[in-house]
Amino acid sequence: MRVILDTDVGLGTPGAVFDDGIAIILALNSTEMDIVGITTCHGNVNVDDAFNNVKRLALILGKKVNVLRGSEGPMDRSKETNDAVDFIINTSEELSDLTIIALGPLTNIAMALRRKPEIAKRWDSVFVMGGAITVKGNVTPYAEFNVYKDPLAAKILFSLGRRIILIPLDVTRKTTLTLEDLDKFFDGNRPYDEYVRYHVKKGLERMGGMCHLHDPLAVAIALDREIVGDHKVGYVEVVTKGREIGRTVLRRDAHGNVDVCLDINVERFMRLLGERV
Ligand code: RIB
Ligand code: CA
Repeated sequence: MRVILDTDVGLGTPGAVFDDGIAIILALNSTEMDIVGITTCHGNVNVDDAFNNVKRLALILGKKVNVLRGSEGPMDRSKETNDAVDFIINTSEELSDLTIIALGPLTNIAMALRRKPEIAKRWDSVFVMGGAITVKGNVTPYAEFNVYKDPLAAKILFSLGRRIILIPLDVTRKTTLTLEDLDKFFDGNRPYDEYVRYHVKKGLERMGGMCHLHDPLAVAIALDREIVGDHKVGYVEVVTKGREIGRTVLRRDAHGNVDVCLDINVERFMRLLGERV
């Protein structure tokens, strides 16, 4: 599958949230995925850091990949366009089988859709890590980080005239990485182990020794749909103002355009991750 990964990767910035970095390693180490580009956005770190972090990570992994700088803030506070938005539009017009995997605030993708709504029809699949359906948020009691950072962008994406696969906190919170797992994953046998281990350790220490593998789960589900257990189709509405801003509400409807993952096979996911990261 040919993939654009959209990410706010913190791995590379000491102490930052690093799960996008592990997701990128998983994607780049998976031969089923041809990563045609990695577009970067604001979120865990500023967009310049995200851009530089992806560049450095790809270099350390020994992978050649096209990296594009994207939005520096939410849609209503960003310039009309940027390299990432242009890349998403141009590549979608060129290739008719793209898979989009969104791991950060949805600004770049929504800006591309606002300019050229017809590109969505050309995408093969869209996977989005974001939202909290039956559980509390991680920024406010209502909102998950990626949606909270740009609710308008999420609203645009969740109103697409095609189905998207949503991987919300409901399932990503079932996955964990602890300081004890570091030896298992980064045992020093590969050239990138030391670098990745350093940043993952710093991030874990800042987060109290444990974190959830939100973004790696989204990439893993794109690779292996059998990881998903219970899932429900419907319309996801996004609250764009007020106290509950960023809240995602699922209205069940068999004709809906969002397929929400609500349960996963954790073992199957961890096995895939262990084999490839
Ligand atoms: O809420 C989880 C999301 O926000 C993930 O994409 C992670 O990178 C975080 O900061
Ligand atoms: Ca992310």
